Amino acid sequence: MRAAMAQAEVADDVLGKDPTADRLERRIAELLGVEAALFFPSGTQANQAAVLLHTQPGTEAVCEGEAHVFHYELAGAAWLSGVQLHTVSSDSGRVSAEAFRSAIRPGDRHHPTTSLICLENTHNMHGGTVLPLENMREIRVLARETGIPVHLDGARLWNASAASGVPLADFAAEADSVMVSLSKGLGCPIGSLLAGPRPLIERAWSVRKRLGGGMRQVGILAAAGLYALDHNLERLHEDHARARRLAAGAAEIEGLAADPPDTNIVMIRVRRDDLDPAVLSAALERDGVLILPGGSRRLRAVTHLDVSDDGIDRAIEALARAVG
Ligand SMILES: Cc1ncc(COP(=O)(O)O)c(C=O)c1O
Repeated sequence: MRAAMAQAEVADDVLGKDPTADRLERRIAELLGVEAALFFPSGTQANQAAVLLHTQPGTEAVCEGEAHVFHYELAGAAWLSGVQLHTVSSDSGRVSAEAFRSAIRPGDRHHPTTSLICLENTHNMHGGTVLPLENMREIRVLARETGIPVHLDGARLWNASAASGVPLADFAAEADSVMVSLSKGLGCPIGSLLAGPRPLIERAWSVRKRLGGGMRQVGILAAAGLYALDHNLERLHEDHARARRLAAGAAEIEGLAADPPDTNIVMIRVRRDDLDPAVLSAALERDGVLILPGGSRRLRAVTHLDVSDDGIDRAIEALARAVG
């Protein structure tokens, strides 16, 4: 990947089209079965651009209660778009169309207008759960019926597709815009793309520029993305198998519990009151294993292309030592 980046053909992407960024954007659009895609420096910026593009100030966007756009984007929707977020809780990240329906405002004089539905697939803080295609289809039917656009935060859509066998384009077809990240399981240092119909992506160009996301010789980063699509996409099922093994190993340690994950994120529940996930995380780091706390009673472990089978064995042993 580093060699591909060094050899990338580049040009000033703020003035015209960097040829390598152009190639990546076309490739992503093709994979997602949409008209166009645009490279962004981060998933957060691409998600926020989508909120800006779909909404108007003083309106409301609906999302699941643990969504990235709600918890981890620093109230960007409020700050940048003047949009309030309305959350719908779920146990797994899989919100039914009916639950979304109950959050959609009646369109009277007393409530904000619902201007957007945001979905997340896979769902990060619910442990990489896959939102089934059927679920997305039902939500899209509701969205069409109510005239509300759908944005899909597909930072890990690759994992959803690998785990379910559903083509990326089938998921993407159920949304008006899709964000995908190169910098998670695909192993790139930087980069996410916003994809959708060409007129929307044309408008996204100006939004990105305003947010300071226009970059000059961005082909250096795009080359990493192209490399990742060629080499790191097909192997995601290996991460999923390792995550299942890690969950099984963790579940055997007294004081911990973990369900078999759908994809590459393992939420390890800490069941003993005398154990603090932050303290465990620090002990694991001293032992050479990086696992962050995932809330006050959980550890969140992620498998990726730098985690081998041996690494999983070492992680399970380190967890047992940390728990003591
Ligand atoms: C579901 C989801 N969406 C968006 C993002 C934001 O991506 P970035 O870190 O590139 O801003 C993340 C990051 O972890 C994420 O998990």
